[in-house]
Amino acid sequence: MAQEELDLDTPPQALTRPEAEDQARVLRRTLQRHNYLYYVEAQPEISDGEYDTLFRRLQALEGTYPELVTPDSPTQRVGAEPRDDLPTIPHTAPMLSLDSTKEEEDLVRFDERVRKAVGDPVRYLVEPKLDGASVELVYEEGVLVRAVTRGNGQEGEGVTENVRTISSVPLRLRDEVRSAPQFLAIRGEVLMYLSAFRALNERLVEEGSDPFANPRNASAGALRQLDPRITAQRPLDLLAFDILSVVGVEFNEDREVVEALRDWGLKVPERVALLDDVDAILDYHHAIFSDRDDLDYEIDGIVIKLNDLAAREGMGTTSRHPRWALAFKFEPRKEVTRIQRIAVSVGRTGVVTPVALLLPAEVGGVTVSRASLHNRQEVERKDVREGDLVRIQRAGDVIPQVLERVAEEGKPRGPAFQMPVECPACGTCLVQRGPFTVCVNQLGCPAQLKGRIIHFGSRSALDIEGLGEETAALFVQEGLVKELADLFDLQAADIMDLPGFAEKSAQNLVQGIQSRKKVELRRFLYGLGIPEVGEAVARDLASHFGDLEAIRNAERGTLETVAGIGPKMSEVIHGFFHEEQNARAIDAVLGKGLELSPPPSSGGDGTALAGKKVVFTGGMEGLSRLEAKKLVEAAGGKAVSSVSSSTDFVVAGEDAGSKLAKARELGVNILTEAEFLELLKGLQQEDEGGEGAVG
Ligand code: IVH
Repeated sequence: MAQEELDLDTPPQALTRPEAEDQARVLRRTLQRHNYLYYVEAQPEISDGEYDTLFRRLQALEGTYPELVTPDSPTQRVGAEPRDDLPTIPHTAPMLSLDSTKEEEDLVRFDERVRKAVGDPVRYLVEPKLDGASVELVYEEGVLVRAVTRGNGQEGEGVTENVRTISSVPLRLRDEVRSAPQFLAIRGEVLMYLSAFRALNERLVEEGSDPFANPRNASAGALRQLDPRITAQRPLDLLAFDILSVVGVEFNEDREVVEALRDWGLKVPERVALLDDVDAILDYHHAIFSDRDDLDYEIDGIVIKLNDLAAREGMGTTSRHPRWALAFKFEPRKEVTRIQRIAVSVGRTGVVTPVALLLPAEVGGVTVSRASLHNRQEVERKDVREGDLVRIQRAGDVIPQVLERVAEEGKPRGPAFQMPVECPACGTCLVQRGPFTVCVNQLGCPAQLKGRIIHFGSRSALDIEGLGEETAALFVQEGLVKELADLFDLQAADIMDLPGFAEKSAQNLVQGIQSRKKVELRRFLYGLGIPEVGEAVARDLASHFGDLEAIRNAERGTLETVAGIGPKMSEVIHGFFHEEQNARAIDAVLGKGLELSPPPSSGGDGTALAGKKVVFTGGMEGLSRLEAKKLVEAAGGKAVSSVSSSTDFVVAGEDAGSKLAKARELGVNILTEAEFLELLKGLQQEDEGGEGAVG
């Protein structure tokens, strides 16, 4: 569609409505095409100036005739209002993860399994494994309607408005080469280019904010912004590599899928290859490994997928990953740098950890400037000292590690590292417990308090947004929080004058804290930071006992009836709750009016509502929508949003409206909130009975 055909000179007001509509349609198409040529093909045909002229013309037309604005208009990439939170949205199909390995033998075994299952010859589609944030994109009638983060694989966060700001993502599928399907759900990876990542981190540091640890976190962070305008400022890209679901098109091979994705205007990974055997895969692995520093984005291995889609069906999946694919990862990158100083840091449990402060070194696009040395014995074992040259590595999520000292012939070394005698945060005399050096001034040590606050507010605990490292440090430093309970007394006025805060952000934080007074028991338990109690044990304790007092009062033997809790753990847990200071601190927190909600069902993996569809409508008293949904899912059911004849239950709260009416009309079972909870309880008992009978 050439630009000359368009009359861009007549003012929009002087065009007739049909003329304006026509022109807007042509402009949308034209801009869409040039956007594709620029961002996906990297082969622009017009200058930026020409693009801008067309873009502004479309804006002017839409300004004059607002009804001409369509959701897929190039003018609509950015502009949605900031949200209060991101909605939870189920995926079209589960977003599984990949089985992964670094070992050649595992690759050989994988290949054997595949050949055994599907027979020779076998062909694999192989491509780089992108190290970004996984998302699902849904197109209906060719138009992008939804984007959802991977989340837990079953459901994620709705980030549609943010994904719309990614220039290489088509808002409407191209249909020049291949017509767009009626429905298409694809999976892809959102990436941040390394160059952009470095620039972003520099800016964050200048602004006094924490830099991101790696490009993956930076992309995930950008993707989950509440304000799409911020996402728009972060240069992201999206590469598509899989179809989760499609209506109206049949594929036989994965390579056809890749081709179709490309035809529809999506960007796909570079260097997709079809390979026949392990040798070819190893060659490919080596080639990509040695080229990876030339790429402007992070890859952490290659992905090997069976090309024949029917054969894939035959092999199936485990609960977590497909049997027909394997991620063959790279060895972590290693670099050499120098230890400038060995500092010590005090964690929330009082353990004092030596930390190597390094001459900043780039390890795979990420600047590393500190690495834990774990404890005194580790420092001795590795024999590292201030001034030494050391080899460091960083693997995926793994925190930077000091691997070994690199000897420097003839260079005099500094003195061996000595643990301090007193706590650097509170001056208390340190004690030695096995390999660990500990500050025993638990509640009186500001460093430990800071650590406890951070842990209490962390994502797996109370999940208090905005309560990070720096804020916790400020609260302790300013004496605003002397124990965890004080968090719940904070007022916006206490916070708004602290560095980095303003009235609105202070209010948000206070509101965030207050809103977490209603919290699941397992989160609260985990947040207490009981030694040995991670997320899994916290969940098990919560579902076994069902309420906090029962856990606090449980004898060691009773604790040991929980699967996975042995004598050592029971001693620590029992000891923790019976320590006077801890007991007082917990009482103080509970005294702030916390409501701990019991776990949904025995193991969280019940089958009581297996296959049942439940709709919630109207306001509920004791449950948030999300909690209600989780309860249903934990019992094996599905929470859906609209009522149809296949709905099993409608739970109607306050002011339920049209959905309730529809349920009555269709004769669907209608429950109150209390009845729903009763039902779950009842079903849960049945469930447990059933299990007993089998076991
Ligand atoms: S195929 C069933 N191909 O790696 C899985 N995944 O745990 C189908 N990833 O988060 C995925 N690059 O998002 C596939 N070229 C690629 C990929 C890729 C990155 C991600 C994926 C997932 C993780 C695997």
